[in-house]
Amino acid sequence: MASIPNEFIESLLDKVDIYDVVSARVQLKKTGKDYSGLCPFHTENTPSFTVSQQKQFYHCFGCGKNGSAIGFLMEYEGLEFIDAVKDLAQSAGMEVPVKAGNHLPKSSNNLYAVTEKATRIFAHQLKSAAHVIDYLKNRGISGETALTFQLGYALDEWNGLANRFEVNEQDLLKRTGLTTSNERNQLYDKFRNRLMFPIHDRRGRVIAFGGRAIEAEQKPKYLNSPETELFHKSNELYGLHLAKKHSQEPYILVVEGYMDVIALHEYDIKNAVATLGTATSAQHIQTLFKSWDRIVFCFDGDNAGIQAAEKALNTALPLYLDRKIIDFLFLPDKEDPDSYVSKYGADAFRKQVNDAVAFSDFFLQILNKNININSLDGKAQLFDKAQPYLKQLPKGNFKQIMAKKIAEISGIDQQAPRNYEQPATPNKQYGENPLRKLISLLLNSPYLCSKMPQELNLRILSFKGVEIIDKIVEIFNANPHIRSAAMLEHFRDSDYSKYLGHLMSMHDHLDEQQKKLEFEDLVHYLLKMTSQQEINRLRNKQLQQGLSNEEKQKLVQLLHQKHQ
Ligand code: UTP
Ligand code: MN
Repeated sequence: MASIPNEFIESLLDKVDIYDVVSARVQLKKTGKDYSGLCPFHTENTPSFTVSQQKQFYHCFGCGKNGSAIGFLMEYEGLEFIDAVKDLAQSAGMEVPVKAGNHLPKSSNNLYAVTEKATRIFAHQLKSAAHVIDYLKNRGISGETALTFQLGYALDEWNGLANRFEVNEQDLLKRTGLTTSNERNQLYDKFRNRLMFPIHDRRGRVIAFGGRAIEAEQKPKYLNSPETELFHKSNELYGLHLAKKHSQEPYILVVEGYMDVIALHEYDIKNAVATLGTATSAQHIQTLFKSWDRIVFCFDGDNAGIQAAEKALNTALPLYLDRKIIDFLFLPDKEDPDSYVSKYGADAFRKQVNDAVAFSDFFLQILNKNININSLDGKAQLFDKAQPYLKQLPKGNFKQIMAKKIAEISGIDQQAPRNYEQPATPNKQYGENPLRKLISLLLNSPYLCSKMPQELNLRILSFKGVEIIDKIVEIFNANPHIRSAAMLEHFRDSDYSKYLGHLMSMHDHLDEQQKKLEFEDLVHYLLKMTSQQEINRLRNKQLQQGLSNEEKQKLVQLLHQKHQ
């Protein structure tokens, strides 16, 4: 990936001032030698976001995000590394050099030129394709909307598009997925006799296409570009570049089809995006939460719709932060947003949005499924079923409320490990999470992995991060001489990489002996806590449904250890 020389990155960061970059986007106030403001990456009332000119570094004490001006731009604008560097370089009047002989995403600029040219060609061809214009008219799409979405038409010819490109452009055309080759290595157009929907990235550049069949017998109904250098389906949302212009709207609608986005737009509902024939990904949700505080998922009211909604809920659980809202809108049977809004109009559709099912209600609905909540067995089942879900929710009010609700319904009150679960001040929350501390210590001094007691079962605790610890220990076991930086490299492509980088710095200042003492204290504490959790669980079970002999023995043993 590293395609830009390090020296350039250094001089770029030397030339730009992170204060300028951030203050153009976030209101900052001078506090002491640094600046502070409300964090753009999570919702807060009191500023915990700081920018240090001296270190050229930003850091949010609330959500833990941190990094350089490049990192800030990537995070804030949702840019790839290379694009963030290019943007910054441009603002600093610097030219991004390309290292010789490396593989920069083979000058993706040219690929955009190709997709833009194809977009123009398709749009031009639409003008003289009467049968497609009729088709659009029949579906209620105005000329203006067709222009806004840059709709087009791919001719019913094997080389209709390819012929419009020069010989030396054919290779690029293939890399965009617009042409494919047969066994005899002859190129031909992927999209033929189709209504074309250019797919844009969040900055409005065309990265791929969807093509809809026009004749009923044409299969498949929709054909989409393959994954290419420019296009990764599960990262992209159709219509995002347009919806972002309406990010002041209080919510974003997530629908299933191109035509849903377009029809809603036609009815002046411009805050809608569509997934591209894939399930909603965590990345989708994160992207949308950057610009909106409320996501309304829109599904068909049939079984498939409910299943898709359940999947979306599962993906959303770990991302369901306080002050973010997710609702589920189930349309009446056989309707999609396109057909619904065309039939009943925008107001009726907005009313549906207002009546959408709240995340918590849908969550309880899923838990209740196939369970008789009026029986004791059913209550215990519901409690058990809820635990893995609850575990995934980020700490916060919502998690507490749900846990309480489930305790109420099931009649099982599981004590949370209070002193760590409920920090005195929310901003310190992460700092006090013991698993976070453990990760920090293990990253700082990997050899401590060898001192983790066998009997310590962290999975009992409802903290996020257990899987990271497992992974760290696994890496250590494979290479006991590994040093911190190499350890971190293992996580570079994981969702945790930034988080771990930040955690590392937490115990930087301690010397080895201090780290070891901290570690021992922490392990001692965790052993106590896990055994207490296990005791609580067994006791609850004893009350609810009784224990097996094995479990009874376990409980006695745990109580014995506790009182020693
Ligand atoms: P639908 O089958 O629900 O179609 O597909 P639709 O959106 O209602 O389309 P119209 O109204 O008949 O034109 C929803 C989405 O699933 C993907 C496309 O992204 C489509 O927008 N899809 C569907 C495919 O990728 N291939 C297909 O063959 C069908
Ligand atoms: Mn439809």
